[in-house]
Amino acid sequence: MAFKLFDIVEDKEDINEVMRDLSTTCTDCRLSALHPDNRGLIWRGSVNGRIAIVGEAPGDKETERGAPLVGPSGQEFERWASLMKIDTTKDCFLSNVVQCQPQKQLVKGKWSQDAPDSKELGACFPNRLLRILKAMPNLEVIITLGWVAASTLLGEPASTKTHEGQWFVSDLVPKVPIFCLVHPSFILREPSIEKTKALEYHLMLFNREYVDDRTAKILDIVGQNDS
Ligand code: URA
Repeated sequence: MAFKLFDIVEDKEDINEVMRDLSTTCTDCRLSALHPDNRGLIWRGSVNGRIAIVGEAPGDKETERGAPLVGPSGQEFERWASLMKIDTTKDCFLSNVVQCQPQKQLVKGKWSQDAPDSKELGACFPNRLLRILKAMPNLEVIITLGWVAASTLLGEPASTKTHEGQWFVSDLVPKVPIFCLVHPSFILREPSIEKTKALEYHLMLFNREYVDDRTAKILDIVGQNDS
């Protein structure tokens, strides 16, 4: 069989125009009101990358620096990326399903990180990250970090038990296989040998099934394996 992983012929928007269009202050939901100086998008890496890394939402460090996954979770993910033999500056586009930091007020003036709710996800994800993923010219696979990212992309509830270390496809980004990993904070919060072993096994699977052997397994997943 001739190997061609992505023979998608649908029209794509021009990625540079999409990025320009979205890189202006957003006012679409409660979170943008919490961050009135937001830049519309928080991303790093390359929009020409083959791999999209999708996290949940920016935290304090990401909001401060205007880049995703640059705090403790991001440092942990960089370690995973080197085990997966991927260079996050060249091979990857990194962002989150929501672009502004979700926060709730504990007491007056004291805020803590929160998970994005369905309204916030609905206002942000389809218009921002999803539009970018659909326009990325060389996108081959998506890696989700954690269950908010996986559930949003797959349109179904995702969990460690049912999704960790497995490939899926989504109607939202047809023909782009999605590999689901736990969120780095899951490991950082309460490290254990079991969690680390499971993670390393899943990173090895990604290597074996995508990086080293970009053929049968992935083509099966996206339904293009006609050999
Ligand atoms: N956690 C995420 O999911 N994304 C970030 O950018 C930072 C922490």
